[in-house]
Amino acid sequence: MRVIRNVKKMQAISRSLKRGGRSIGLVPTMGALHEGHVSLIRASVKDNDITIVSIFVNPIQFGPSEDFNQYPRPVSQDEALCRKAGVDFIFQPSASGMYPPGFKTYVDVRELGDVLCGAFRPGHFRGVTTIVAKLFNACSPDCAYFGQKDAQQAIILKRMAKDLNFPILIKVMPIVREKSGLALSSRNTYLSENSKRDALVLSGSLKLARELVRKGARSPALVIKRMGNMINSKKPAKIDYISIVDNEHLKPVKKIQGACLIAVAARFGKTRLIDNITVRP
Ligand code: PAF
Repeated sequence: MRVIRNVKKMQAISRSLKRGGRSIGLVPTMGALHEGHVSLIRASVKDNDITIVSIFVNPIQFGPSEDFNQYPRPVSQDEALCRKAGVDFIFQPSASGMYPPGFKTYVDVRELGDVLCGAFRPGHFRGVTTIVAKLFNACSPDCAYFGQKDAQQAIILKRMAKDLNFPILIKVMPIVREKSGLALSSRNTYLSENSKRDALVLSGSLKLARELVRKGARSPALVIKRMGNMINSKKPAKIDYISIVDNEHLKPVKKIQGACLIAVAARFGKTRLIDNITVRP
């Protein structure tokens, strides 16, 4: 496994691999890797000749009062995990390599980035799409892997790849959960044992939603209300949103039918967590 820190070098390597007929899978990450990332890496290793994991804590996707500085950066642990999982290259560029002085170009997927998490994190998705476009240009992947936990991100990135004609297949892999039901996230390391227990209310509320839909509930307002009541019963939880939207345009549905994304975001102290399920009544 090689660690590449220079954008031009990564480009030269990926282009020469492509010329040699090798397929490339890219797993974009911000590091602090966990089993959720490992599931993406495994899928890439299985599907492709070469797997590149990018590790870059992207400053432009964090708001001014968000956790960019605190974001965990366990570099040697991440490297060991990648090596064990069969990664060929880690691409770990510097901030100045990705955003050289005078940087002025952003990728903005309109509308989709303004709702759900975007309404609470202005500019976040513009930061995500910009860095992912740059990672695509650096690594020339055939296929890129993202987690369903960031469902909105995955939908936006699929739109971006289509709109900008990136010849890249976007694969979205299922959420990996702890036995307790808590969705894995690098931000879970911020949670105390108590907050972790409280945070289970998110997956609990989604289970409740699934059960309500299974029993015939079709009104988004009713399901949202029942989920809200459950989450609010946990004192420290502060809901940002509970939304039931369609899977492509992220528009609130009037009736639960077809495939609907039920997404929730809440804060537990300073930690903001998200989770979601897709229901198909
Ligand atoms: O999901 C993430 O970890 C990040 O948003 C991504 C896609 C690596 C872009 O920085």
